[in-house]
Amino acid sequence: MPMYIVLLGPPGAGKGTQAEIVSETMGLVHVSSGDIFRENLKQQTELGKMAQGYMNRGELVPDDVTIAMIRERLSRADCVKGALLDGFPRTPAQADALAGMLATLNSQVNSVPYISVPAEVLIERLSGRWTCRAEGHVYHEKYNPSKIAGKCDVDGSELYQRDDDKPATVENRIRVYMNQTSPLIEYYRQKGLLGEIDGMQPIEDVTADLMAAIGKGK
Ligand code: AP5
Repeated sequence: MPMYIVLLGPPGAGKGTQAEIVSETMGLVHVSSGDIFRENLKQQTELGKMAQGYMNRGELVPDDVTIAMIRERLSRADCVKGALLDGFPRTPAQADALAGMLATLNSQVNSVPYISVPAEVLIERLSGRWTCRAEGHVYHEKYNPSKIAGKCDVDGSELYQRDDDKPATVENRIRVYMNQTSPLIEYYRQKGLLGEIDGMQPIEDVTADLMAAIGKGK
């Protein structure tokens, strides 16, 4: 049976960091809505140009556009065994759409690990984040530095700071998360799928708790 895992958590909680590790360990495709938008922006596609303004303001890209993009991504052959979803769903409408998409495949969301980190820590995490240009590998100048400053350990490409990691945009992203995405915590708790994880631990300990939460999924 395919397995679909939804990683939930505020901006900077460590979803991307963990998704990279867990997807490799489990052999599951990592589907990050933010990465797909950024790739489209880099390629200057219509989707990327359309999403840019929302991303720069720290707002959500409209549901219909985001849902269509994820529907297309999940229909590709590499998702036949399922996917580790990072950054999607982000609204109850997106969560309902995901359930509908998976139902047509006789599947469902199996587990929703929620990485919890207090708001005051998120700003420090995002302002110290460096991302690799080639593949999006993530570092932190204090908590998870690359071996050579400014270069990715995995592929040697240049590290950069995301435009939406500026303090004013980060504050808005956290506000948007609180208003529009945090209702999903209760949404998935009521379905018996939520596993709450303390995201303040070292990265390896968060991974261990995440794997345990996934193991308890449906
Ligand atoms: P997206 O790219 O999804 O951003 P996000 O959800 O805001 O999440 P981040 O990537 O910022 O954080 P993360 O939780 O992955 O943390 P990370 O692992 O990097 O979305 C960007 C934009 O795209 C949105 O604002 C929106 O406009 C649009 N968008 C995307 N999806 C959408 C959707 N579904 N609907 C509508 N619009 C959408 O870690 C952060 C830092 O902390 C790193 O430096 C890392 O090294 C460090 N770190 C990680 N874990 C630890 C730890 N345990 N201890 C110490 N440091 C740690």
